[in-house]
Amino acid sequence: MQKFIIHGGKKLEGDIIIQGAKNSALPILSASMLCNGESVLENCPELSDVYAACQILTSAGCTCRMQNHTVSVKADQIRNSEIPESLMQEMRSSVIFLGAMLGRTGTCILGYPGGCELGSRPIDLHLQAFQKMGVRIQEENGILTCTAPNGLHGAKIHLQFPSVGATENILLAAVLAKGETVITNAAREPEIADLAEYLRKCGAVLTGDGSSTIMIQGVKKLNGCTYRIMPDRIVTATWLAAAAVTGGTVRLLQADTSSLEGILDVFEQMHCSCSHTGDKICFSAGKRIHAVRSLKTMPYPGFPTDVQAIVTAALCTADGTSVIEETIFENRFRHVDALVRMGADIQTAGRIAVIHGVRQLHGAPVSATDLRGGAALLVAGLGAQGETVLTEISHIDRGYDSPEKILRSVGADVVRI
Ligand code: UD1
Repeated sequence: MQKFIIHGGKKLEGDIIIQGAKNSALPILSASMLCNGESVLENCPELSDVYAACQILTSAGCTCRMQNHTVSVKADQIRNSEIPESLMQEMRSSVIFLGAMLGRTGTCILGYPGGCELGSRPIDLHLQAFQKMGVRIQEENGILTCTAPNGLHGAKIHLQFPSVGATENILLAAVLAKGETVITNAAREPEIADLAEYLRKCGAVLTGDGSSTIMIQGVKKLNGCTYRIMPDRIVTATWLAAAAVTGGTVRLLQADTSSLEGILDVFEQMHCSCSHTGDKICFSAGKRIHAVRSLKTMPYPGFPTDVQAIVTAALCTADGTSVIEETIFENRFRHVDALVRMGADIQTAGRIAVIHGVRQLHGAPVSATDLRGGAALLVAGLGAQGETVLTEISHIDRGYDSPEKILRSVGADVVRI
């Protein structure tokens, strides 16, 4: 089992190139299954979740090659409509393959994604939408058999909550369905617009992505294309937090600044300086960041739940008291115990965390419990005095491409053992 050994307190200085977005790469890999011919996906991050997505494609009968951050997928033949249970367990967002598999073959068999590290992760919104599109669903012993005996047809779908995964899954199923699909109260995350852009390039007809009403006219077929995955805004926020806790000065290159307004605003509230032009962010932090009075996670364009743990880690040593409310997932404060072990003063009650800033954290043996919680501990370790031994880093490898190399290139002392 691998771990990170971090000797904290080193100021981060230099340039970091932002990797491609995991949350965009996964639905686009799924979408590649809908296309005839080859899709070439550039700027694809090398992550265990991306490898799992490629395995799902391969098990379905696609050929999938990854080299130098480019994945090529040929999906001329789909031989198998079953998502292997081991891959469902490895990556909960495997459910994103359901829409594409139904769109391409009219059938999908998959394990029910039960509880996960962030709490229960239901897929009721996905399933209700598919039923409206003509899909019959049978569940037996946790296995879902989804079939569209007469093919998929368009439908009017109102989401009770703007779920990212449900919006993506409906898009994936609707682009080859018969007729028009209209999604209202759709999620507006930039990764959905990235998926829509890829689908359009392949020949899909859809409008409204990035707003809460998306309209899709089904077409007969899609053809693969070459597409560049957008930069990862959560990774961008992580490196900003790492620079903030070390009083560092960094330039982030190839960032998607248009999707970062809400995040940069929070760093400005911490009295960090962030200016951006084009795809470059110039960031610097003083000796001690400032507390953020109150912060609430919300669907986009609100403050992302995926950045909550990371910003919590930064606020541990801020001047003053910060209050954070998590409204998206029920179980997203699991990193707090480890931060307290490193000297943080945090109280949680239900979905609220109150962080009283302390002068300094100290290194400690800690363990990642989930992807972003793990990234939060990495950030905390960079700012802490002494040695932090961070275990269970496979969680971090799901979303960060070579984080230790990137951090070392800007002066951090982190090694992977
Ligand atoms: C995606 C992101 C994840 C991010 C999350 C919220 C990917 C691969 N993952 O996850 O990083 O944290 O968006 O921004 O893009 N819900 C239901 N029923 C459903 C679907 C969702 O109740 O059928 C609830 C969930 O339990 C959760 C909330 O809606 O409380 C948000 O979930 P959703 O937006 O679907 O997140 P994911 O797509 O799973």
